[in-house]
Amino acid sequence: MTERTSHVALVTGASRGLGAAIARRLAADGWSVAVNGIDAEETEAVAAAIVADGGTAAPFVADVLDEATIVAMVGDIATVLGPVTCLVLNATGPQPDGDVDGTGWPEVEAELDFFARSPLIVGQAVLPGMRAAGTGRIVHIDSEVVSKTPANRVAYTTAKAAQVGLARSWAVELAAEGITVNTVAPGFVPVERHDVVAEVHREAYRATVPMGTMGSPDDVAAAVAFFASDDARFITGQRLLVDGGRSLG
Ligand SMILES: NC(=O)c1ccc[n+]([C@@H]2O[C@H](COP(=O)([O-])OP(=O)(O)OC[C@H]3O[C@@H](n4cnc5c(N)ncnc54)[C@H](OP(=O)(O)O)[C@@H]3O)[C@@H](O)[C@H]2O)c1
Repeated sequence: MTERTSHVALVTGASRGLGAAIARRLAADGWSVAVNGIDAEETEAVAAAIVADGGTAAPFVADVLDEATIVAMVGDIATVLGPVTCLVLNATGPQPDGDVDGTGWPEVEAELDFFARSPLIVGQAVLPGMRAAGTGRIVHIDSEVVSKTPANRVAYTTAKAAQVGLARSWAVELAAEGITVNTVAPGFVPVERHDVVAEVHREAYRATVPMGTMGSPDDVAAAVAFFASDDARFITGQRLLVDGGRSLG
């Protein structure tokens, strides 16, 4: 990887789950990582583990839904690590199921808060730093549901589709400034919150994956690392499915 003016990655929602794996991978690739989360203990533990492994990281506890907090956090990151030149938009709140009749605007809006409003405000907060650096990488974590849409997930699917639209429109506008915007779309990748999912349900999902196995958080992190790398400098506005081929069927 060649040197950039600043080599700082902010990963939202990195105190556990996919975000923690993405933070670890970016640190291993040489990024200084701002680890964001709500739970202070977990957020600090992820950053401390990266440092213990020889990487550079610091915890930033902040609510990605609160604009003033985000602007302050981005300023704090610039002070502690340097201006953010890679942003991974990963944070999520609860993702309740809901069908056509049971999903109203409040449910959709709650998901849009995480997947459209928050990416917009966090993105706008880091853009000045990227523009000053003359380079930037923005990677959204979207979902296979936009390609292989399940029943009973109206709010989540609507919001994830909005996130893809946001990413594509930003990609068009920011391309000339050397800032790429791409999305990584995982299939079902079990993380801590899925411990309650019964093996019978995992097996039912696994049976629909052409590769016959579940993906791991590290598979998702590898795709993010690619979009973040200099190797991806000429790639923007793309969606990369990390789903073992499931969206093909
Ligand atoms: N895992 C999958 O199967 C899968 C599949 C497709 C797409 N995705 C997408 O991948 C992303 C990560 O999913 P995940 O499964 O890793 O989720 P997760 O394990 O539930 O982790 C969610 C993360 O978001 C953080 N968070 C929640 N509310 C926040 C807020 N207001 N401000 C800042 N951080 C907040 C949590 O922090 P605290 O714990 O500190 O509250 C946690 O670190 C999401 O965008 C999700 O839609 C996941």
